[in-house]
Amino acid sequence: MKGTFVVLAVLHSIFATTALAGPVANTPPYHHHPSQKTYVAQYDDLPFVEPGPNPLPSPYNGLVYNLFQVDQYDGFIPTTSGNQWTMAFGGSGNFSVPATPAKQTFTLSSFSYACDGGISQPECAISVWGFKDSGQVVKRVITYPRLDPGHVIEDFKMNATTFSRGWSGLKSVGFSIARADNAGDMFAGLALDDVRYTVVRGR
Ligand SMILES: *[C@@H]1O[C@H](CO)[C@@H](O)[C@H](O)[C@H]1NC(C)=O
Ligand SMILES: *[C@@H]1O[C@H](CO)[C@@H](O)[C@H](O)[C@H]1NC(C)=O
Repeated sequence: MKGTFVVLAVLHSIFATTALAGPVANTPPYHHHPSQKTYVAQYDDLPFVEPGPNPLPSPYNGLVYNLFQVDQYDGFIPTTSGNQWTMAFGGSGNFSVPATPAKQTFTLSSFSYACDGGISQPECAISVWGFKDSGQVVKRVITYPRLDPGHVIEDFKMNATTFSRGWSGLKSVGFSIARADNAGDMFAGLALDDVRYTVVRGR
């Protein structure tokens, strides 16, 4: 009995060591560290019904969404992955870590995006704010090009951007869109796909 226990304990420790040394799965979500989890939100696993609304579950992949909904490819700008993305139909919205547990923040890494108003639409300026746990606010403006008639549908696609290390310690990220030329209304929605971020807990 005692011998069996020792052998099992040794096997267990070899297995544990091997498992730890093994390759880290590259498909999200995966763990960097017990207190961190990286996600790539693709929205393809979420129910979509017509007519909507199609709110996201709360939380979805660790974040709570405001004004963003699940939306499906309609033959215009293709989604980056699968056939669904998240859309803020009025062009503004945000996502945040849930209020509880209190000690969590996230680091924003990248996403694909499009302003989706149809043909034609002016150049779109997307303001992105990061609200940090520290009270600091970071801001970027990214643009999505104007879309003119006379193109084949294959010419239209999402653009993508990555975020610098300053986009960490975040409680919330908010968005709004406006015409890039005169700050007027875009009459468009803001679509996001493949949103990559890491939720950090207990810090
Ligand atoms: C997120 O959006 C909601 C709805 O507009 C708003 O009430 C809330 O204040 C926003 N949160 C942040 C942190 O901006
Ligand atoms: C950005 O989107 C426009 C409009 O669909 C497209 O023409 C362009 O190729 C995209 N750029 C990148 C780098 O994906």
